[in-house]
Amino acid sequence: MAPLPKPTDDLSGSLTPPTHVAIIMDGNGRWARERGLPRTLGHRQGVEAVRRAVRAAIDLKITYLTIFSFSSENWKRPIEEIDDLMGLMKRFIRRDLAELHKAGVRIRVIGQRSHVDSELMNLIDEAVELTRDNDKLTLVIAFNYGSRTEIACAARKLAEEVAAGRLSPSEVTVEAIANELDTSGIPDPDLLIRTSGEMRLSNFLLWQTAYSEFVFLDCYWPDFDKSAFEAAIAEFRSRERRFGGLSKRSMA
Ligand code: IPE
Ligand code: IPE
Ligand code: MG
Repeated sequence: MAPLPKPTDDLSGSLTPPTHVAIIMDGNGRWARERGLPRTLGHRQGVEAVRRAVRAAIDLKITYLTIFSFSSENWKRPIEEIDDLMGLMKRFIRRDLAELHKAGVRIRVIGQRSHVDSELMNLIDEAVELTRDNDKLTLVIAFNYGSRTEIACAARKLAEEVAAGRLSPSEVTVEAIANELDTSGIPDPDLLIRTSGEMRLSNFLLWQTAYSEFVFLDCYWPDFDKSAFEAAIAEFRSRERRFGGLSKRSMA
């Protein structure tokens, strides 16, 4: 006899809260420009919005929060802005690590280690190590992250295994590729939010968002708060996730 469907097999998913929310935090520069301020002040206010988002994620019982904080393409920006963003990341870890740890946040970082200065890399490693056993919220920081490079690295790793005779080509499966990605062990995002009105992925989690629900918010990232987060979740809950199956209505 076929096993009874588990509650998680419900194809709609509409009542299930998102386990994993991924955010493309966009619009710091435009927030500043509209106020006649330098872009750097937009990034500073963006860090405040990160703090609000982490607190809200804990309140809303989200298990994984992934934030896109620096893309592999952001190196194209002026050196002063890059330095500013690197400095903000260092300050964020130095100032917030103890509090995040106390709140039970586990930190994970995805992205390439290359080009990132060693002082920042050491701080990141320290944060990951200190918080590794926390389980309230996993905060995944996408830093120097680009999805195409991530997928290419996974493909290269598996190709090396095949070339060495340790893996057969038939073992290059969806699961094998997923296990080689930086996000290995992290469930795919249920909900992807992008602020600032832009509607593109900008090389973020291309593999992992295959069945994520996308919500685009008009507000700039520095204005993001708990009510914006709740609005995005309400929108998520109104969607019917079918994963290629049929809607409940068509099956009735
Ligand atoms: C997001 O804001 C922060 C990063 C990409 C690091 P932007 O800096 O992209 O702001 P806009 O898009 O220019 O307004
Ligand atoms: C995506 O935003 C990267 C981050 C939010 C860190 P961008 O502002 O870099 O994306 P584009 O250039 O508008 O696509
Ligand atoms: Mg932008």
